[in-house]
Amino acid sequence: MTMPRNLLILLGSAALLLAPGGPSAASEAVEQGRAMAQRLCAVCHMNPGQGEKAGASGVPSFPAVANRPAQTREGVEAWLRSIPPMMPNHRLTQNEIHVLAAFVMSLRGEP
Ligand code: HEC
Repeated sequence: MTMPRNLLILLGSAALLLAPGGPSAASEAVEQGRAMAQRLCAVCHMNPGQGEKAGASGVPSFPAVANRPAQTREGVEAWLRSIPPMMPNHRLTQNEIHVLAAFVMSLRGEP
């Protein structure tokens, strides 16, 4: 994909604004993201009692990630796009990154 990132972000935002049914489309993204996360990320990020990361190789829970004061959906998307070396490369598509970040940020406010 050689499309400039800004254009992709613009297209993504336009798609969100124009999505019929707005909020329900958004909650659909969250549910898609939840299902994907349970499949791909749960083993590391969705363990009972998991909190903020402990130590250098610690893994934060998704609520801990979402509740960081400066956290944004864009921040989570940028993290996933960066293919962090400490996580498996899941070869996520733009849409998968989008729904995963929507799911993670839907946990904001949870302990
Ligand atoms: C093999 C374990 C593992 C898997 C599987 C995994 N991660 Fe991670 N993830 C980590 C580790 C370790 C960190 C902490 C990295 C650090 O802070 O140094 C992390 C950090 C994160 C962060 C926090 C970045 C930040 O702001 O500090 C996000 C968001 C994240 N992972 C999302 C995901 C998503 C979404 C998936 C599934 C597609 C996933 N991870 C799968 C191990 C994993």
